[in-house]
Amino acid sequence: MENLNSPKQVLVCQHHTCRKDGAARVLETFQAHPVVDVTVSGCGCLGLCGSGPIVLVTPDNTYYWHIRPKNVPTLIDQHLRHGQVVTDLLHARLHHDPNEFL
Ligand code: FES
Repeated sequence: MENLNSPKQVLVCQHHTCRKDGAARVLETFQAHPVVDVTVSGCGCLGLCGSGPIVLVTPDNTYYWHIRPKNVPTLIDQHLRHGQVVTDLLHARLHHDPNEFL
């Protein structure tokens, strides 16, 4: 079981399909706005091709889809700094239980 108090990590898929949809710019935007105790890195395919760019936040295993650079400030402020999931950007096929993050 994951320790939800572990430092947060942001993974931005950099594999073919997400990359074609602009994942490199998403990763660059996260890296341009570092957050204390949060690591950001690119990663391989997360198995959700076609709904990217995909961003995964661990240890809470939150998947965001169709992320654009303009979404990054909201993810940083709301999720990484204040611990609140950004429901509008959640991967709807993975996170369909509205009580999941209560
Ligand atoms: S290419 Fe990003 S999830 Fe597969």
